[in-house]
Amino acid sequence: MTMASTLIVAIVSVVLFLPSISEGVLPRKSKDIIDAPLLTSKIATNRSIIVGPSEEFKTVQAAIDAVPDGNFDWIIIHLRAGIYREKVVIPKNKEYIFLRGNGRGRTAIVWDDSSTNNTLSTTFTVWANNFVAFGISFKNDASVGVADTFYNQSVAVMVVGDEVAFYHCAFYSPHNTLFDYKGRHYYESCYIQGNIDFIFGRGQSIFQSCEIFVLHDKRKKILGSITAQNRQSLDDTSGFVFLNGKVYGVGDVFLGRAKGEYSRVIFAKTYLSRTITPAGWTNWSYDGLTDNLLYGEYECHGPGSEPGSRVPWSKQLSEEEASPFITIDFINGKEWLPAYY
Ligand SMILES: *[C@@H]1O[C@H](CO)[C@@H](O)[C@H](O)[C@H]1NC(C)=O
Ligand SMILES: *[C@@H]1O[C@H](CO)[C@@H](O)[C@H](O)[C@H]1NC(C)=O
Ligand SMILES: *[C@@H]1O[C@H](CO)[C@@H](O)[C@H](O)[C@H]1NC(C)=O
Ligand SMILES: *[C@@H]1O[C@H](CO)[C@@H](O)[C@H](O)[C@H]1NC(C)=O
Repeated sequence: MTMASTLIVAIVSVVLFLPSISEGVLPRKSKDIIDAPLLTSKIATNRSIIVGPSEEFKTVQAAIDAVPDGNFDWIIIHLRAGIYREKVVIPKNKEYIFLRGNGRGRTAIVWDDSSTNNTLSTTFTVWANNFVAFGISFKNDASVGVADTFYNQSVAVMVVGDEVAFYHCAFYSPHNTLFDYKGRHYYESCYIQGNIDFIFGRGQSIFQSCEIFVLHDKRKKILGSITAQNRQSLDDTSGFVFLNGKVYGVGDVFLGRAKGEYSRVIFAKTYLSRTITPAGWTNWSYDGLTDNLLYGEYECHGPGSEPGSRVPWSKQLSEEEASPFITIDFINGKEWLPAYY
């Protein structure tokens, strides 16, 4: 880059980071596509760090480490296009980070650990509350070639913090891709890929307009599950809600498998391709009661949505039964999301 173009980039960057004049006036419920400029104007901060091969900060972790402990004001960490090959941790005491990529096809964070322990395998972990990501691919590309070996957990992202949102991000791993451990989370226009239990944990999460892509597992003839939600008790507020998205891919999978005795997973207004096996849901390796599970579908469409052969303990929900789950209020989103649909 020449001196002049560097200067232009710097000026453009400063302009982008200035708070929007209409801050606080624009509604957060969006009629427009929620993109990087829109999120940037809602988050409205002039504090930012740029990461890239020719920047002062060359790794994502170095930029995160530079955020002061106990941070309470939004800071943008902008990742220039490129593949960042590193394991990244957002520690609990570094809140209010907006990690902004250049688009999920252009900015990626990749690592390749596999382990018996999901936590140890994770490429990207968010322990902090109040975190937002935009336009980044998160990958665990560990080779997990051998079935029935211990080293087969390979999490791409683990989310432990509360009030965490991912917009236009992608999550890749063959197995245990997204560990939605706990807290209230919003995933919007994300792409999530995997084969076995690839969205799991006891998060309280809405997946709005996400694409779920099922991979063929060459290792073994096995019917994997997209979700393994782990709600433990009646007063546990967790659950996974998929809204307006689509599920497709290769091979046969279940929408979910019973895990916690009170597990909740709902697919609403979602396209389900033939990838979904007719029974829909499974209690494989679960020996508890099915009475308290809430595995439901509401106004889904596509060849995989036929209710005829579903397991008897799953439900086709009525509008009234679906209503507590299918708005942003399920995660109290109006209180904390910078933007939502
Ligand atoms: C950043 O914004 C804050 C609050 O709007 C303001 O007080 C501060 O002077 C600004 N800093 C710079 C470097 O512009
Ligand atoms: C997995 O690793 C984490 C981090 O070292 C540790 O805290 C946790 O106890 C481990 N879990 C199991 C089941 O061994
Ligand atoms: C993963 O490892 C565990 C523990 O060895 C084993 O029970 C399980 O079958 C393995 N899964 C796959 C898909 O290889
Ligand atoms: C598990 O699901 C199968 C198929 O729907 C059913 O026959 C069986 O009773 C279920 N097991 C329990 C413990 O509910």
